[in-house]
Amino acid sequence: MPPPAEIIRSKRDGAALSSDDIDGFVQGLVDGSWSDAQAAALAMAIVWRGMDERETTALTRAMTHSGQVLHWQAEAFGKPAIDKHSTGGVGDKLSLMLAPMLAACGAVVPMISGRGLGHTGGTLDKLQALPGYRVQVEPDEFARVLHAAGCAIVSAGPQLAPADRRLYALRDVTATVESVPLITASILSKKLAAGLDALVLDVKCGAGAFAPTPAAARALAESLVRVGNAAGLPTRALITDQDAVLGHTAGNALEVQEALDFLTGRDGGAGRDTEPVQRAVTLALGAQLLVLAGLAPDEPEALAMLQHSLVSGRAAEHFARMVRALGGPADVLADAQLTQAPVQRPVPAPRAGVVSAMDTRALGLAVVALGGGRLKPGDTVDPRVGLSQVRPRGTALAAGEPLALVHAASEAAAAEAVRAVQAAFTLADTAPPRPAAVQHLVG
Ligand code: URA
Repeated sequence: MPPPAEIIRSKRDGAALSSDDIDGFVQGLVDGSWSDAQAAALAMAIVWRGMDERETTALTRAMTHSGQVLHWQAEAFGKPAIDKHSTGGVGDKLSLMLAPMLAACGAVVPMISGRGLGHTGGTLDKLQALPGYRVQVEPDEFARVLHAAGCAIVSAGPQLAPADRRLYALRDVTATVESVPLITASILSKKLAAGLDALVLDVKCGAGAFAPTPAAARALAESLVRVGNAAGLPTRALITDQDAVLGHTAGNALEVQEALDFLTGRDGGAGRDTEPVQRAVTLALGAQLLVLAGLAPDEPEALAMLQHSLVSGRAAEHFARMVRALGGPADVLADAQLTQAPVQRPVPAPRAGVVSAMDTRALGLAVVALGGGRLKPGDTVDPRVGLSQVRPRGTALAAGEPLALVHAASEAAAAEAVRAVQAAFTLADTAPPRPAAVQHLVG
């Protein structure tokens, strides 16, 4: 096998890497024989030179097998193991709603989730707003929770795709996150190691996403779908709108509360009052998965099953069982034990008008600045802070009416956030066109 510098040189000069080169790199990530500098240099060469589909598939496979690969057959669930994964958004609490809905529709959902990244929130940070909720589980406990609740949202743990763990940490600090082959291998290696039978990806597109343009989102979605299927995992992707905050909240405890309101119907009944993009994307992702996994014959039937999981209260029950099994509140539906931030301040609209646009990335960064995300690895996250009552696009407001409500740990932090949120909203005289929640289906 060529030494690391030769492999880096090949990619630097634009060559395609052989499977042996790629295996050597991944092995070196795990056994430490590649230094941080060498691994980061190859990552940067890949950012610039790209990888073809064969290389991306080889990298994905090697990273998948860099650790334990779970197989659920021995558990005899008698149900397909399915999952959805989002490329990251602001207010993106869809996993909290969808995992129990899918469980209620007859699937098992071993969902490996992540922490917040940059301006986007992370599902694990949200769930840890529930006192006691454990995200770190050994494989046997993972299986026990799946038997008890049908769904388990946990972290990858050191045994799953350890090559991605090391490479991701290096990419995060060397400006090498934004690369279609690297994102593809990173996401899919964890999903393939989780032993899934079907996967649907929510590729977010817009101001709040890592893929800001339709072309970028399309390239990422196509790569994920092609490589996922080539690696033997039936995979589809939806490209969905992230030009606005999803739902009404952004911030960990606030998002958990919104998800609970959706699941229990406290938001007006089966998610009826939910902001329309959030509701439409949740149902569309769920329907694709149920059809892909053979749990529903077609999309209309799948949508009916998902609706029933809400109105029957079964999705909410599955969520409660998962939370209890993972050490969270014993009856999360009755008392989620979420704590409130001490300071709450409305953000007044500076003029009368219709909400026509919002700088979603800026809103995500405002939540991070309030303490709801990390500025550097290891920072602690304040679960209480964030935004609620975020007005969706198309809302008509009088001057001074709230654009959103800021939840902050201090008056100073609240004042700063009020300014940032005000600046992030655009008010116009006429309503904007209604966005398409789902822009494309790939696969
Ligand atoms: N999420 C991941 O898991 N990996 C990436 O590279 C980007 C988003």
